[in-house]
Amino acid sequence: MLQFLAFLLVFPFLASAAKEPICTHGFTLVKNRCLKLFHEPLSHKNAERVCSNFGATLVTIRNSTENLDVIALSNKERNVWIGLFCLKTDLSSCLWDDSLGSAEKYSGFESEGLNSEKGRCVTVNTTSGYWSSTHCEKKANMFVCELPTTFEDTCQHNYNGFCYIPHSPKSFIGAFTTCEKECGELASINSANENRYLNTLASIFSPNENVFIGAVWQSFHAPRSDWNYEKMDPLHERVDACVVVSGERSKVWGYWYTADCDSKHKFFCKRSAGLKCNGDFETVTVAPWISYTCNSSLILTPASVSSPRSQAGGTERSYCEYQVFTTGSNSILMTFLNFDMHPSDDELTVYDGDSANSSLIGTFSGKYGNGLSLASSGNKMFVTFRSNGTNSNWSGFVARFTEFYYASPMNKLI
Ligand SMILES: *[C@@H]1O[C@H](CO)[C@@H](O)[C@H](O)[C@H]1NC(C)=O
Ligand SMILES: *[C@@H]1O[C@H](CO)[C@@H](O)[C@H](O)[C@H]1NC(C)=O
Ligand SMILES: *[C@@H]1O[C@H](CO)[C@@H](O)[C@H](O)[C@H]1NC(C)=O
Ligand SMILES: *[C@@H]1O[C@H](CO)[C@@H](O)[C@H](O)[C@H]1NC(C)=O
Ligand SMILES: *[C@@H]1O[C@H](CO)[C@@H](O)[C@H](O)[C@H]1NC(C)=O
Ligand SMILES: *[C@@H]1O[C@H](CO)[C@@H](O)[C@H](O)[C@H]1NC(C)=O
Repeated sequence: MLQFLAFLLVFPFLASAAKEPICTHGFTLVKNRCLKLFHEPLSHKNAERVCSNFGATLVTIRNSTENLDVIALSNKERNVWIGLFCLKTDLSSCLWDDSLGSAEKYSGFESEGLNSEKGRCVTVNTTSGYWSSTHCEKKANMFVCELPTTFEDTCQHNYNGFCYIPHSPKSFIGAFTTCEKECGELASINSANENRYLNTLASIFSPNENVFIGAVWQSFHAPRSDWNYEKMDPLHERVDACVVVSGERSKVWGYWYTADCDSKHKFFCKRSAGLKCNGDFETVTVAPWISYTCNSSLILTPASVSSPRSQAGGTERSYCEYQVFTTGSNSILMTFLNFDMHPSDDELTVYDGDSANSSLIGTFSGKYGNGLSLASSGNKMFVTFRSNGTNSNWSGFVARFTEFYYASPMNKLI
């Protein structure tokens, strides 16, 4: 009877707190971004390093208002490094630190101010507001660092509205499911700034090692078309499907590399800052869209299914089939919220395709609790459940199907 009552679905518990943009690390909120003046004069390179220790860049200035904001922070009569680097004496060659364009649209150079022969780095004179080319190493200047705003949270690594939580090594699937349970995702990287931030965290948390990121190299030649930012090392031979950033000596900092999905690496889960996720699972009543169906029609992710049960609890004599699909070229992740079956009378069989003729992922019996996850290599999965119903002490299974980006590790580059 207890088995019957305990047969409930579990979901992570989410509660959102009031969301006001804030700044971390003692930065000051200035018109929706976070700025901080560092008084000790340093070379441009060392100034960049100080900023990057906070996951920040030297300040970027996109219009005259932002120029005034920087000046307002600084003592008068100073030159202050800004996050601009000019390859040539030409505004289109002056690139901002956040990798989001050049100074063509707005610049504070006075005539003659831009001269890459004087230096490729740039300072702003906080009295006049004008910018000038400055030698990157010969001069030491004060500087202003810039961070994006985020939301209040007790997490240690709070950046741009997200918390990044380090974890000890797991396989890619293990990492993926761990992060789901924490109301987050395996950390994705969507901008140059985020790439810098995550690489910095990785080199602190996991020096000289690989760290999984939430991206998978699509089968053979190309990154997924829905990547909006990509930093694969062009010289790296892409032999595996999963993607890591790496502090290994043979690798270049900031670039991405492929790694075996089954090998275990450290990783970061990324979740919205200001969300409280009850790490333990909260038990809630069965959601109405989950039914004890057998032979349901085609199932489209996200969805859940559970084994049929007899009135007394336990599984009844039955044979059921489930055909699961997802859209596009995504793969299907089958995560068990419960798996408790007779070791020989009940069995669940999962195929990597749309019928029992597809290749077998596995046949499962016995107890796994919620410690089992399976993935398809394509966008179809076929599942059968067979029970002799001879024993009423087993609660059966509850599985959730979600889509995710996964190319089989068997897909190698030719
Ligand atoms: C200056 O640029 C920032 C960032 O692009 C923008 O939010 C702001 O509205 C701009 N201000 C003016 C006066 O153009
Ligand atoms: C900044 O500009 C002011 C006014 O043009 C000038 O007098 C001053 O020498 C400049 N300061 C520096 C540090 O270059
Ligand atoms: C489910 O479908 C299979 C194959 O069509 C059939 O053998 C089985 O009896 C069905 N199960 C139920 C409970 O209808
Ligand atoms: C069910 O019972 C049959 C006959 O006793 C047996 O062959 C089979 O292995 C049992 N298990 C399942 C999962 O069908
Ligand atoms: C599976 O293969 C058999 C034999 O090749 C064939 O008769 C059957 O139609 C196939 N079933 C499906 C669902 O494709
Ligand atoms: C079910 O479990 C109970 C207690 O664990 C045990 O006493 C009983 O024999 C079991 N029933 C069957 C049919 O195995």
